[in-house]
Amino acid sequence: MRIVLGVAGGIAAYKAALVLRLLTEAGHDVRVVPTRAALEFVGRATWEALSGHPVSTEVFEDVADVPHVRLGREAELLIVAPATADLLARATHGRADDLLTATLLTATCPVVMAPAMHTEMWLHAATRANVATLRARGVHVIDPDSGRLTGADTGPGRLPEPEAIVAAALATVETGGVRDLAGRRVVISAGGTREPLDPVRFLGNRSSGKQGVALARAAWARGAEVTLIGANLTVPAPAGVRLVPVGSTTELREAVRAAAVDADVVVMAAAVADFRPAAHAAHKIKKRPDGTVAPVELVQNPDILAELAADRPRPGQVVVGFAAETGDEHGDVLHHGREKARRKGADLLAVNAVGDGLGFGTAENSVVLLDAHGTEVGAATGSKDVVAHAIWDAVVSRTAE
Ligand code: CTP
Repeated sequence: MRIVLGVAGGIAAYKAALVLRLLTEAGHDVRVVPTRAALEFVGRATWEALSGHPVSTEVFEDVADVPHVRLGREAELLIVAPATADLLARATHGRADDLLTATLLTATCPVVMAPAMHTEMWLHAATRANVATLRARGVHVIDPDSGRLTGADTGPGRLPEPEAIVAAALATVETGGVRDLAGRRVVISAGGTREPLDPVRFLGNRSSGKQGVALARAAWARGAEVTLIGANLTVPAPAGVRLVPVGSTTELREAVRAAAVDADVVVMAAAVADFRPAAHAAHKIKKRPDGTVAPVELVQNPDILAELAADRPRPGQVVVGFAAETGDEHGDVLHHGREKARRKGADLLAVNAVGDGLGFGTAENSVVLLDAHGTEVGAATGSKDVVAHAIWDAVVSRTAE
């Protein structure tokens, strides 16, 4: 893919060298367009050596080639990392005072900007307004991470990790630039809950969180504002989404219910423990001298999905669930899936077979999508990204009805 990597003048410019490296190693042809200020942080030689292309900051270099028009027209993806407050302001106003802003005006491909700046600058009304304008125009602006900034200060403003920026940016191309979830607020639960038994032990499950994370990345790429309620995720949360980490089913339930109040779509992709120990011992449970074992009493957890489907915290909200099934003597995977669809009342239920290397922790997934009557409304097999997009397609066609 032909990618333009714009680099603005902030200290995080050094991380853009890693973004570049990841993109070229994945086989992409990357043209780097730094601003003059960016070269104060990382020099031209670094960008030329890592990209294998000459690098310019100016429209007036190499004029016969009309680089600002050619670069913008040819790009299939344009990433700006880091995007400084000044770069966001210039892009918002359509300025063309260097090669990067001129290229932004000629590009018709997906544009992804990863801002990085001091917290005060990120939270300033001017920057907030600029980001809102850029988003309304279809630019994918990745919210910065919170954490350590250049000096001793901490807060929102950190450039996300290069891997996260690259994954988010490539995800916007997968959708073909479609932003059919723009303006939608979605809440996704992912991972597996852990039910504490004592301070060191828990009852858990094998969910990795990969499918939920893929759903979050796909929704973000399609323009949604995403809250990811992550229960013990084994994979990093995607860039651009708001992560709410939780541990137990009780915490997950509270977080989902709070976030669902103003959500257009709620997807329960988390593997929620059906049971929890009746008591949480304050101290580690010790072996008994007589060799007997204390029984663990379990109580049933509330069914968060069924509660959401029944309560509908927001009118018109679409509630999506998953059904992890194995067939048994009463019926196959789909039979159990149809029963669950009717029982839970979710608008969509993604039924997948688990066990024997299927589903949990694997890269591939295969699901059948059922509506609340148990009628098949879609199916997908492939990577968890493919499955995620199929689920969003079904959600979008439901909301269009
Ligand atoms: N779920 C939930 N709350 C629970 C259990 C499950 O919200 N206490 C949600 C899951 O996130 C998933 C769906 O319900 O979206 C189905 O989960 P699954 O484990 O397949 O079903 P169960 O409700 O546990 O039904 P059963 O044990 O009968 O298979």
